[in-house]
Amino acid sequence: MANNDQKKILDVTCGARTIWFNKHHPATVYCDKRKEEYHEIWKNAGNCSINIDPDIQCDFTNLPFENNAFSLVVFDPPHLTGAKETSWLVKKYGKLDKNWPQMLHDGFNECMCVLKPDGVLIFKWSEHDIPAAKVWKAIGQKPLFGHYSGKSMRTFWGCFMKGVGNDDPN
Ligand SMILES: C[S@@+](CC[C@H](N)C(=O)[O-])C[C@H]1O[C@@H](n2cnc3c(N)ncnc32)[C@H](O)[C@@H]1O
Repeated sequence: MANNDQKKILDVTCGARTIWFNKHHPATVYCDKRKEEYHEIWKNAGNCSINIDPDIQCDFTNLPFENNAFSLVVFDPPHLTGAKETSWLVKKYGKLDKNWPQMLHDGFNECMCVLKPDGVLIFKWSEHDIPAAKVWKAIGQKPLFGHYSGKSMRTFWGCFMKGVGNDDPN
């Protein structure tokens, strides 16, 4: 079991921490299954780099934390299925294989396990390759509410609460 030093927030897919304003927030444990560094991967974009350097390298389907440990969990899993392994998109965001419904289902359940009762899970999804509706089907639950954003409105931010289901029949 990893020691979370009583931190309140867990990001299970931190990647390069792009979504974070403070990329070293003191209340947060940053996790990812990869530890990788890439330099100059965007041609003509100067010295751009991607640094994936989690506090703890682990798999979101098998998290090394006690149950009921965090108040907030951030889950931003890979969403690409078709991109080339060598593309910058895959270097930055990773890629799903054909087992993705089971993997997201297991990851979601594991995030719920480490959340405290009434804890909040923020789920980020991009509909680049897979509609969000298929993801909710895979995990067996829809968010309480959410919001589409981004230039093409394909990025969805959804909110779940441990112990509070969504009884929307649609
Ligand atoms: C969409 S990216 C996250 C981007 C990140 N939120 C940011 O702000 O830059 C998804 C991340 O999930 C990681 N990942 C994929 N499968 C994983 C797994 N089974 N366990 C933990 N991390 C995983 C990938 O390595 C990738 O860094």
